[in-house]
Amino acid sequence: MGRVSESRRILLVNGPNLNLLGEREPDVYGSTTLAEIEQSVAERAATHGLEVDAVQSNHEGELIDAIHGARHTHVGIVINPGAFTHTSVAIRDALAAVALPVVEVHLSNVHRREEFRHHSYVSGVAEAVIAGAGPSGYAWAVDLLAARP
Ligand code: DQA
Repeated sequence: MGRVSESRRILLVNGPNLNLLGEREPDVYGSTTLAEIEQSVAERAATHGLEVDAVQSNHEGELIDAIHGARHTHVGIVINPGAFTHTSVAIRDALAAVALPVVEVHLSNVHRREEFRHHSYVSGVAEAVIAGAGPSGYAWAVDLLAARP
């Protein structure tokens, strides 16, 4: 008999400077705080019967450790790598290594911004990329992961 009580978990990862959401460049990133985003992601996940573990760090290695830690315990990853999007081969490699479905989220439309934000090392290992939808993008990322078998 299956272990029906075992929960399906997703990992929510937010990278550098996203701890300052709400006060950081509100004209670009809006007024929603990271705590509010994490709460709404948990609520959206619950509607799909999923649970969420949320991590935010300003340190690349901590993000990599969190990604590695999800490999046998989680069914997918929602990640906003912040500026590491545009710089980190190591985060891309970590995501590729764990081989979980990944949805990359950006609050802002990075393609409408400076040229250096147009390239993402993460997109090549992501199932989907959502940029410019604000906090709703995180909820849609959860919907996408939930829709997978
Ligand atoms: C961001 C976009 C990145 O270019 C930037 O470095 C961030 C936030 C976004 O959510 O729009 O920190 O990932």
